[in-house]
Amino acid sequence: MCGIVGYIGQRAADSVLLDGLKRLEYRGYDSAGVALLDPDYSSDIQIVRRTGRVANLSDALKPGTNKSRMGISHTRWATHGDVTEVNAHPHSSSDGRFAMVHNGVIENHTSMRRFLESKGFVFKSQTDTEALVNLIAYHYDKETVQEPEKRFYEAVRKSLFHVEGTYGIAVVCKDCPDTLIGARRGSPLIVGVGKGEHLLASDVNAIASRTTNVIYLNDGEIALLNKDNFAISTTSDEGVEAVIHTVDWDTTDAELGNFSHFMEKEIFEQPQALQNGMRGRFADDGSTAMFGGLNLSPSELRLIDRIVFIGCGTAWHAGLVAEYLIERFARIPVEVEYASEFRYRNAPLDKNTLVVAMSQSGETIDTLAALREAKRKGYKTLAINNSVGSSIAREADGGIYQHAGPEIGVASTKAFTSQVMLAAMLALYLGRIRDLSYSDGAAMVEAFKSLPDLVSRTLTCAESIRKIAAKYSQYNDFLFLGRQEMFPIALEGALKLKEISYIHAEGYPAAEMKHGPIALICEECPSVFLATNGEIFQKTLANIQEIKARKGKVICILTENCDMPDDLVDDSVIVPEAHEAIQPILMSIPVQLLSYYIALERGCDVDKPRNLAKSVTVE
Ligand code: F6R
Repeated sequence: MCGIVGYIGQRAADSVLLDGLKRLEYRGYDSAGVALLDPDYSSDIQIVRRTGRVANLSDALKPGTNKSRMGISHTRWATHGDVTEVNAHPHSSSDGRFAMVHNGVIENHTSMRRFLESKGFVFKSQTDTEALVNLIAYHYDKETVQEPEKRFYEAVRKSLFHVEGTYGIAVVCKDCPDTLIGARRGSPLIVGVGKGEHLLASDVNAIASRTTNVIYLNDGEIALLNKDNFAISTTSDEGVEAVIHTVDWDTTDAELGNFSHFMEKEIFEQPQALQNGMRGRFADDGSTAMFGGLNLSPSELRLIDRIVFIGCGTAWHAGLVAEYLIERFARIPVEVEYASEFRYRNAPLDKNTLVVAMSQSGETIDTLAALREAKRKGYKTLAINNSVGSSIAREADGGIYQHAGPEIGVASTKAFTSQVMLAAMLALYLGRIRDLSYSDGAAMVEAFKSLPDLVSRTLTCAESIRKIAAKYSQYNDFLFLGRQEMFPIALEGALKLKEISYIHAEGYPAAEMKHGPIALICEECPSVFLATNGEIFQKTLANIQEIKARKGKVICILTENCDMPDDLVDDSVIVPEAHEAIQPILMSIPVQLLSYYIALERGCDVDKPRNLAKSVTVE
């Protein structure tokens, strides 16, 4: 989603800002822009904006030709107004004194705009952002304080009082070429603390190559930055003691290396990502998992008699797998809710309910709001999250970091399998403080330890999947079918295919097919089956036969000991057979690869699919 980078220091601001914007490209955007301030006060704020890629902006800006040492920049993902240069950020006040970039949604922008128009302010764009930057100019004019920096700060602070909605903003003022202001409510914003320089960003990735010292702003905080110092306060003008965190971020993680796409890289680095997620998380007795950050004792956890997972998209699918695994191994009833529904549904929850937010980015607004709703009602909350210091990680009562490394490709892959693995380890932990036996626990621990190798083995099917993808890439409808834990993997397979190849795909529990979807079966609609060995294999086989009887093509992803009749399926991919706690992870790999190779065959922009953003920070 939209990205923010701000800079004040001694280097060429245009180059620093463009570098930051490039590092945010993966989040998805449709236009980009920069505002630069002249250090000698001699000219107006220079604003350059372009639709399309950051490369277009760079061509227009010619980095290195500008002497500015401070500025703000943005990648926009349209919410209010079309994708045009005029609607791209930064936006300036009608007197040209202020420029601002903004993530989030100002819900009362129409009334703000009407008020400002009645005061003579002139609007150029259709955006909500322009209302706020003009409101800042309005308060600046009214401000009695004369000292420019204080006046600038007060104008921002007072304007934010009137905002209904969410914002992460960076603002500059022509009268204060030594001051950069940022503020947040509901949209992430961090301050990068360097030597003789400070940065603002919506995402650590934008600034990690410059500094690893960051301050995570909380909602309702304002950062006032100069080259050499900073001050954090609340919108009520109370000083805040800022905590500087050191982020553990290897910038090479966010580079492609020898891969063609981040999605490909992230699929192939799953053995390592999973290894990192389980490191140090098994107890010495070899029969259970342990987590440092749950902030709930075993006796508190024993009192939990219901768990609700909340998440969106792929994270919701990981929650569905968690439901099967926790119910099976810990015997605790689990429900899985779309965070966007949960936050407004006012669902009745029993008093001993634990709410677990599942989110790779930790910034998805619906998941964050659902988490807040659960906390407001007094429930204990946990987060399974891949972004250290993210809003969800900080606001949950406790949590489990995924340690899967940055996920840059828009389509989630390694973050999904890592969420599933951690949910399975949580199932083990909860099971062992209840009724799961030592030997069952020990067998699960062994399974987790073997997982990275099994994933590596599964990845060797890539070449055969590439051939299958070439054969099926021209079909426009797919069904993904699986039973039990394979049902969420079917949903995930359909989502992956939709989002990166724009093919219509649906996931169903295999037996549900007879209740409607079977009407779609024909030669033009292939089905992808996920079949594991075990008690329901024969049932899955019967579902495959029903499809074949209707001339449907079948691609089957199956575990190695399945007794599949010769020639029943058109194409198959064999996956190692493993403990049921980790089998869903292994079965996910071929569906990820299938959608990746089909998207390549269709010439799609795999890492930046149309209309999608990596982190959905607006409702
Ligand atoms: C799909 C995908 C999305 C995300 C969803 C939640 O590949 O990535 O469906 O899973 O937007 O994102 P997080 O996990 O960041 O809350």
